Amino acid sequence: MPKVKIVTFGCQANELDSARIAGTLLAEGYAVTEDEAEADVILLNGCSIREKAEQKLYSRLGSLQGLKAERPGLRLGVAGCLGQRAGEQLLRRFPGLDLVVGNGEHLTEIPRLLAGRGPGVAVSEPVGLFDGAVVRDSRFRAWVGIMEGCDHFCAFCVVPFTRGRERSRRPEDILGEVRDLQVRGYREITLLGQTVNGYGKKLVPPVTFAALLRLIDAEVAGRMRVRFTTSHPVDVTPELAEALASLPCVCEHIHLPVQSGSSTVLKRMRRTYTRERYLDRVAMIREYVPDCALTTDIIVGFPGETEPDFEQTLELADEVGYDGAFTFIYSPRRGTEAADLSEQVPHEVKVERLQRLVEVVQRRALERAQRFVGRTVEVLVEGPSRTDPSRLRGRSRHNKVVNFTGLGAPGEMVDVEILEATSQTLSGQESILSRAAG
Ligand code: SAH
Ligand code: SF4
Ligand code: F3S
Repeated sequence: MPKVKIVTFGCQANELDSARIAGTLLAEGYAVTEDEAEADVILLNGCSIREKAEQKLYSRLGSLQGLKAERPGLRLGVAGCLGQRAGEQLLRRFPGLDLVVGNGEHLTEIPRLLAGRGPGVAVSEPVGLFDGAVVRDSRFRAWVGIMEGCDHFCAFCVVPFTRGRERSRRPEDILGEVRDLQVRGYREITLLGQTVNGYGKKLVPPVTFAALLRLIDAEVAGRMRVRFTTSHPVDVTPELAEALASLPCVCEHIHLPVQSGSSTVLKRMRRTYTRERYLDRVAMIREYVPDCALTTDIIVGFPGETEPDFEQTLELADEVGYDGAFTFIYSPRRGTEAADLSEQVPHEVKVERLQRLVEVVQRRALERAQRFVGRTVEVLVEGPSRTDPSRLRGRSRHNKVVNFTGLGAPGEMVDVEILEATSQTLSGQESILSRAAG
């Protein structure tokens, strides 16, 4: 049985795609291994979102080519957003490479290309949805893809080019997968899409994301937690806020990338909302779910971003008070609109802005986290704590990492009393009452 090792770069969408690649290959008689030394095939599932992500893969591929010189039978492949974007030219740049595949339905072509003799390429624009088996690492947490692609074309972003146009899975297919995961004992699912809350607009008849959440809530009936990511601010509706507030299975957390606090920059980014509209959406969510955790993505140094523009981002981060934020230095991506804009911001200015932003984000996240101290929260146990193996680690419904003392086994839901909070993590002890009762 040939063994394949899959290395994942990039976001949750790529993690899910790696699970899809694993499913496809297992069905074709391959075995999956973690161990590079025993692998017959090594597949790099690559990301293109920023220059650095691409560099990381290239350097890994460089050293794997060296390994191949010692083990000529070894086969190397690149998949995912980087494969989709770089395509055939990767084969010229890395002669040791045996195949390059893109996203979507191309994942299912991997076995055929591996069986072929020469190098293989499958990178035409993906138009379909993956419909094979998905083989996941975790036995209790699962990503569930509900849509593919993106139609937004934000000026900085490669995703519409790497994942094709937006297309949604049918609700009955999604419900079937959710039912299956539940039967197999999964305790938490995360619904995935590039703009997950824009789900279903092109289905006939259309289905709103909130309607899908209601169907899923009825299906899981309190036996699983449900998360979703990533939401786009333009598709935050009262119906969605109402669903967040009223459906017991849906966790109290929304990831709502703002990108910038300046309406001028947002317009140039083609984000299709203003600072004010974003803040209105945040206010609406908090009106329906006052305790909702809110996280975001922010880019600093977008072309033409002035010091006053950046100060508006700082102010917005302070005003909203995020529970956490991913902050990025703008990275020009060939082929996107923003790469050709003049007024690129100098690197040292970007670095300085990032530092100032991180300070505000962390200060506010620390303040926000204090509200959990003294509360008892529901935690899905993941395993031993990374810092202290005698303790346990898991996640709360608000998506906070919780390190705690207790007896819970991985995959179990336990109640944890929170004693301390940093900007990133909560710390506590498992409630004895919950164990006695449960
Ligand atoms: N679909 C999601 C985002 C996907 S990419 C959404 O619309 O929110 C994840 C994050 O990477 C983005 O939110 C953005 O903050 C960041 N990002 C995307 N392109 C980037 C670029 N060229 N340079 C820096 N950061 C970028
Ligand atoms: Fe990229 Fe914008 Fe689409 Fe998100 S919404 S994937 S940032 S183009
Ligand atoms: Fe994700 Fe990177 Fe593609 S962030 S969508 S894997 S470009």
